Amino acid sequence: MLETIRNEFPICMQKFPIMGGVEEKALIYFDHGASTHPPRRVIDAHCTFVEKYYSNIHRGNHNLSMIATDMFDKVEEVIMNFIKGDQETNTAILTTNTTCALDLAAYVMSNIEGITLTTLMEHHSNYLPHVKYGEVEIIGLNPDGTLNMEDLKDKLDRLPVKLVAVTGASNVTGFMPDIPEIARLTHDAGARILIDGAQLLAHHSIDVLPDEDPGHIDFFAAAGHKAYAPFGSAFLFGPRILFDSIEPYIPGGGTVQFVTPRMNIWAKSPDRHQGGTPNIPGAIAMGESLKFLKEVGLDKIREHEKFLYKYMLDGLQAINGVSVYGPKDPDRCIGVITFNITDIPNELVAAILNYEAAIATRNGCFCAHPYIQSLLDIEEPEECWNKFNSGENLFLMGAVRATIGIYNNKDEIDELLRMVRVIRDQKWKGDYDLKAASMCQPIRFTLKKGGAGTATCLPKMGNGKREMGKGKCETGKGEKPVKPGATCG
Ligand SMILES: Cc1ncc(COP(=O)(O)O)c(C=O)c1O
Repeated sequence: MLETIRNEFPICMQKFPIMGGVEEKALIYFDHGASTHPPRRVIDAHCTFVEKYYSNIHRGNHNLSMIATDMFDKVEEVIMNFIKGDQETNTAILTTNTTCALDLAAYVMSNIEGITLTTLMEHHSNYLPHVKYGEVEIIGLNPDGTLNMEDLKDKLDRLPVKLVAVTGASNVTGFMPDIPEIARLTHDAGARILIDGAQLLAHHSIDVLPDEDPGHIDFFAAAGHKAYAPFGSAFLFGPRILFDSIEPYIPGGGTVQFVTPRMNIWAKSPDRHQGGTPNIPGAIAMGESLKFLKEVGLDKIREHEKFLYKYMLDGLQAINGVSVYGPKDPDRCIGVITFNITDIPNELVAAILNYEAAIATRNGCFCAHPYIQSLLDIEEPEECWNKFNSGENLFLMGAVRATIGIYNNKDEIDELLRMVRVIRDQKWKGDYDLKAASMCQPIRFTLKKGGAGTATCLPKMGNGKREMGKGKCETGKGEKPVKPGATCG
């Protein structure tokens, strides 16, 4: 199955020059947690629309508009089918990304009295919107980075909770909280549940269950760009009755049935909350990618990725000097592994993997600062921030993340493990410049101009030149960088 699937993804043909290499090397992509590449049929669906049916939807009495409308309207059905949602009582509002979908959920719930419970493992996008709209309490974690269910029960008992907003799978550790159990507890307490499904959508089958089931999901947010569709399309599943109980999220074109200078009658959902022209080709492509995933089979995908997760996890844990964070349980985690190599800054590890092996990972705090702070045992993160601002530290909290997708294979993991050993032994080839420094994210290493092999390892861009960063400071082979996390202690 794997070879057939790899052949469907044009990105699998992508190569990059690597340092000291004579030939270009095939890209090894372990950044599926950030965004996934579309397979050929999804690219085709996107392009066909743009080429043949490009037109605005609704209210157009010409062939193009009618076809476009039909294609666009069918996407809702595909989404509902994918997550097994009941279209009678629920709908899916199309948005641009998961962040927007989660913000919409928080907005809709702002009409209702009560507190929102969220967790310490959330992506910022499932925390900050709730803070914007009302009072929030945070559910704590167990020492292994899993959710503290006793804390959840206690807070549900004691507090007037209206919403529990929890991730379906963490983008830092891959941990999947027990959603059916959390949903049951939430409903018993008279509250609703919102699942951030950004990481789950393409990696695990999803069943939101019938409304009358105590374990059902009220709101589910996810995006196409993490499920093998292009950027710019996402959705929020939720109850029509709640969506229609509040004014449009962005009032404007498409959100009304009738307007006079003295009154307006809002449209029913989903239109009510889809103000303005939507990303029509993006939505159509997302529909196609969901059909693709369904045809491959979510259970098969899960089985394949679980095998790779275990293989990568065992391999990394067997390397002295590598720390892997989180519960490390193949049954309860999707293919997300976050690690550090002792004494090597995460930024440098990711840069070496890129420049010397064409391996794409991500590093930093993954928009989940509180979770990273907890996993790295940073007790006074605010202190960290102050030190950083006063220029005291350069290498601060963070880690390297490798995320597995549908077309990855064992050989790619072997190559990652080989490179991790090379880096652990400080045997990398290049000299690296630190490009820019800021807390948690954009600290970046680039190869020094003129460093050995530089000429062959930089991807050509535009005029064939690529601007190298003028580092604020330098580190490289031989220098001992500050241990990530230790800077804050
Ligand atoms: C768990 C989780 N939630 C939310 C988001 C935000 O998603 P988007 O970039 O689609 O807004 C991400 C993105 O990485 C994520 O991993």
